[in-house]
This record gives sequence, structure tokens and C-alpha cells, in this order.
Amino acid sequence: MKEQIDSVLQKARQMLGAAQTMQDLEQVRVQLLGKKGELTGILKQLGKLSAEERPKMGQLANEVRGQIEAHIQEKTRELQEAALACRLQEETLDITMPAVRQPAGSLHPLSIVLNDMIDIFKSMGFDVVDGPEVETDYYNFEALNVPADHPARDMQDTFYLGDNLLLRTQTSAAQIRTMESRRPPIRMICPGRVYRADEVDATHSPVFHQVEGLVVDKGITMCDLKGTLEQFAREIYGKDAKIKFRPSFFPFTEPSVEVDVSCPKCGGAGHTAAGDCSVCKGSGWIEILGAGMVHPRVLSGCGIDPQVYSGFAFGIGLDRLTITKYKISDIRLIFENDLRFLEQF
Ligand code: DAH
Repeated sequence: MKEQIDSVLQKARQMLGAAQTMQDLEQVRVQLLGKKGELTGILKQLGKLSAEERPKMGQLANEVRGQIEAHIQEKTRELQEAALACRLQEETLDITMPAVRQPAGSLHPLSIVLNDMIDIFKSMGFDVVDGPEVETDYYNFEALNVPADHPARDMQDTFYLGDNLLLRTQTSAAQIRTMESRRPPIRMICPGRVYRADEVDATHSPVFHQVEGLVVDKGITMCDLKGTLEQFAREIYGKDAKIKFRPSFFPFTEPSVEVDVSCPKCGGAGHTAAGDCSVCKGSGWIEILGAGMVHPRVLSGCGIDPQVYSGFAFGIGLDRLTITKYKISDIRLIFENDLRFLEQF
């Protein structure tokens, strides 16, 4: 019987040595130690032994069972460790591998310049208002002192949507809406798209952008207009920027001016070492906006007494400003959204 028990231990060693999986281990346990297992089978023969032999063999069989169980446990741990090592190996992340770059968007040049403008005017106490792009004839023309059949309507080719509806040709319409809904003191800017039936070329687009400005209070003069615009030009173009007022005409302002800024490229000289300046075309100045003192008729039309209040207004061409600031040669680049262009900002 001793040999039989020893041979079970041998067998256990062999089978465990070859075991690859947990099922293999279970198989060993059932086959050798289970209720119908080989060791159990041998123990059933104990009764046939002499009283002297019986306890010895019983003890031996128990020792062997203990050894086999210990082997199985050890092998179980080994297999578990191997499985874990294998999983860790499979799931290893190479954190030194270069990442796939997600393309990040950037602000459109118009947005960059507009954000700057908003900061500048906010720091001077202006707030930002919005107005509709589809306007009525009244807000876009009539209330701005441009009655029907007035020749000034020819200054702006209009997209009409019906008898009274149109795509606004100027953000000036927002002046009227603001004065109707608020009492002075008023200090606002209104940025937005405007539309005119223009042919597309390097300097024209049927859609472009303006930033309207309006200040109404007691005792507002042309000096306030000049100081405000001077400060604005210095912040946008640098502290050496100069501005120049030229007399002009707008139906909604009296007097009216057009405002030029000294050319940011040639500093106002009109030429560079290479010849005539390409940005200002040799004049040294660039027109950036129209402005003036709000016409008394416009004030009174909005219920503001021109004997008590006065105001100034301006309309800045945002696209123009952006083009000159970044020395862009063609306005179409602003609207085409070619990534090769946009990625430069
Ligand atoms: N609306 C004018 C235009 O589109 C620009 C302008 C001129 C706006 C004078 C104003 C202003 O507010 O006072 O040409």
C-alpha cells in the first residue's frame, strides 16, 4: 500500500508539472483527492490491513494528501501570477509615444479685432448692443433722416426683402433702436453684419461688418468725438497713430466727417524703401470710419430733446480695419475661410 500511496504522489507531481490552466489543476484534485479519487480509493482498503499497519498507512496517506494540496495551491498561485503578468504585458501603454494632435481652432481675424475694439470701448464706458440684420425701412433710413426718394439712398445699394423690409445697409439702424428704448446718458457700440448690393472684388463684398458707436448726453461736443476716436486709434494701431478729420456728408449727422488714420505700414510717409506704400497706396492715410454730431432731427425723432442733449456717432468698417491692421491684400480672404489663411492668426 505504501507504494500505491507513493505512486499517487508521483502522479500528482507529474500532472501538476504539466498543468497549464486552472481546469488542469481542478482535474488533478478530482482525479487524485476527490470522493472517487485514487487516494480515496486506496484509503478504502485500510480496513484490510493489520491493526499495526493501519495507523501508519493512514498517517502516510494524510501526509500525501496534505502535500498534494499544498502543491495544488502553489501551482494555483503560479498560474494566477502568470496570468496577471500576461495581462499587464498586453495592456502596457507606451506613454512616450507621440500623441495624435487634435486640430485646435483659432479666432477669425475679424473676431480678434472686434474683441480688441470691444475691450477698448468698454474701458471708455461704452456697452455693447445688438440689432437685427433684417430691418425695416424706417430704422435703416427714415429715422436716420433719409426719407424716401432722398438722393442719399443712392449712396448705399440696398437688398430689399419686400416693401418695407430690407437687409440693413448700416449698423446706424441700431442707434435709433437704442435711443427709442433708453434715455441718455447713452454710450453704446453695436457691432454686426451689413449688406449692400456690391460686386465682389479685392476691396468690396456684399456682406461686411461695421461697428456703430453712439454717445448722447448733456454737453457732448465734437471734442469728445475727436478724443474718443484718437484714443481708439492709438490702442488699435499703437501710440504713434494719428487721426485726421475730413469734412463729409451723412444725413444723420451735422457736421459730418470721415476719419483717416496714419498708415500703419509706412507711418504716414506714403512710401517705404521699396517705393509707394502698398497699404495706403502712397497717400500716408487710410480711411477707417465715418462720424459726426447726431443730427437734431434724429434726436427729436427718438423723443430726445436736442435743446438739452447732444451726441456724436460713428460707424467703423471692421473689415477695413482688420485688413489694414494685418496688412491683408484682398478682402475676399476674410470671407473665404481658407484654413491656410485662417491658421496664420
Ligand atoms: N453708416 C455710415 C455708412 O455706412 C457710417 C456712419 C457715418 C455711421 C456717420 C455713423 C455716422 O454713425 O455718424 O457709411
